[in-house]
Amino acid sequence: MKVLVVGGSKGIGKASVELLLEEGHEVIVASRSNNEIGHLPIEHIEVDVTDHDSLAALEDLDELQGVIYCPGSINLKPFHRLKAEDFQADFDLNVQGAIQVIQRTMPALKEGKGSVVLFSTVAVQQGMSFHASVAASKGALEGLTRSLAAEWAPTIRVNAIAPSLTDTSLAAGLLGNDKKREASAERHPLKEVGSPEDIARMAVHLIGDGGKWISGQVFGIDGGMSRLR
Ligand SMILES: NC(=O)c1ccc[n+]([C@@H]2O[C@H](COP(=O)([O-])OP(=O)(O)OC[C@H]3O[C@@H](n4cnc5c(N)ncnc54)[C@H](OP(=O)(O)O)[C@@H]3O)[C@@H](O)[C@H]2O)c1
Repeated sequence: MKVLVVGGSKGIGKASVELLLEEGHEVIVASRSNNEIGHLPIEHIEVDVTDHDSLAALEDLDELQGVIYCPGSINLKPFHRLKAEDFQADFDLNVQGAIQVIQRTMPALKEGKGSVVLFSTVAVQQGMSFHASVAASKGALEGLTRSLAAEWAPTIRVNAIAPSLTDTSLAAGLLGNDKKREASAERHPLKEVGSPEDIARMAVHLIGDGGKWISGQVFGIDGGMSRLR
């Protein structure tokens, strides 16, 4: 397979890149930086998904079997402190960025009979204080997942993964010391926070043959957080 990982330079995206390479696939990463992946045998395209002009480079790609879109935010604030700009910034990164990337890679995805994986959050299914902005954006992304899956069946499959707290730089503020880490693990029925690999395994499964009869779904990979008490 040839797979584009947008936001494959860190965290869950980087873990997905490593798994795809282990399985012998061709990988292209699009992100702002490549310090953590410079040593890997991949093509890197410099893009900022909030700068739509920079995404023109993605239009040159052909025959993609997968697009994994990872950029996202955890912008946690009490509702009364969230400004219109906070909601807009979260929407631009999580939703509009994904839309722009998918529109530009759509011909390549059609050519390659490809599949798309997007990232939501557990905070869409499970109400959580201070998550209003990110949950609003990720909820929109879940709607996009199902709409596109319907519109593009049977050619292109579209699914999403909704992680709970996962040990990446994005979550560093929430996992900054042993006490925070233990408290976070304790809140999960499976008593652990996620590792990037826990989430990446599902992304790679969905893109590949394992996902060939799956479309329009949102999978909670969340230590039981969204369903168990
Ligand atoms: N970690 C968690 O606890 C958690 C929980 C629930 C949901 N999620 C979701 O899972 C997804 C992946 O999260 P993660 O923890 O792996 O995040 P991460 O460690 O921050 O990685 C995000 C990736 O996206 C890229 N990126 C960010 N902004 C970008 C921009 N404007 N343009 C281009 N690339 C950009 C980053 O690369 P550059 O900086 O090099 O551009 C990086 O490769 C996100 O959508 C997040 O909302 C994560």
